[in-house]
Amino acid sequence: MTERERNFPALRERLRPQCDEIIARYERKRSALLPIMHLFQRSEGYVSAQAMHATAEMLEITPGEVEGAVSFYTLLYRRPVGRYMLQVCRGLACSINGAEDVMAYFREKLGIGHLETTADGLFSYEEVECLAACDRATCMEVNLDFVYDLTPAKIDEMLAAMRAGTYAVAPTVQTEAPAGTWAIPQDAQVAGGEKSRGARGVPQPNNAGGVGDASGIIMLDNIVAGNVRRFTGTTERAIVDSHAVVETVEEEARAGH
Ligand code: FES
Repeated sequence: MTERERNFPALRERLRPQCDEIIARYERKRSALLPIMHLFQRSEGYVSAQAMHATAEMLEITPGEVEGAVSFYTLLYRRPVGRYMLQVCRGLACSINGAEDVMAYFREKLGIGHLETTADGLFSYEEVECLAACDRATCMEVNLDFVYDLTPAKIDEMLAAMRAGTYAVAPTVQTEAPAGTWAIPQDAQVAGGEKSRGARGVPQPNNAGGVGDASGIIMLDNIVAGNVRRFTGTTERAIVDSHAVVETVEEEARAGH
């Protein structure tokens, strides 16, 4: 058992009043899921399996439901990460404004790639989808704090300040040493087509659709070929092969849609 795991029951008790206060704000307990996950992440540096189980218990939902929500958001980290989490936007507006160059510059300066952490545990790096700050592209988040209008000079200055311990945003707590990568192996199964039709044929589970990457191109090819359908009763965008399209049309016909 790690020291963090040994300390978890005490942390849980310490956070209990805050969790109760958050839960009381909502009509339904489960609505408190994300604020409670952020609370644990601020305390442990990431969302641990213990935190997810404890939250499931408090909210009277299953651990699977908790992990389903946590795994959706790049704002929540499911593995220990570096003291500075650098999440660079690769969305459309940022791509048009030079995100490819920004990402290449970060990778070169840090010596790591997407979903990796430097050996000293200082930086974790991720390329993420639109951060909803398109008017200030190219942009990123540092420990969930926005940085806009990125340039090589700005990046140099920022990394130097983080290394010197003088950066304006505080480093995150680190209750467990991060590994070289914080990718989640199960995500690869999803991308391999095991669970989600939308992820079928997408080569990189954590690159699901960024402009210019292979996943985005596969998605675009499917759209152009007319293989994308919106399924009845759900807002999920599904990319399916032609056989599955036929099946879906038949199902819809049977259901009288
Ligand atoms: S595309 Fe980067 S913030 Fe929207």
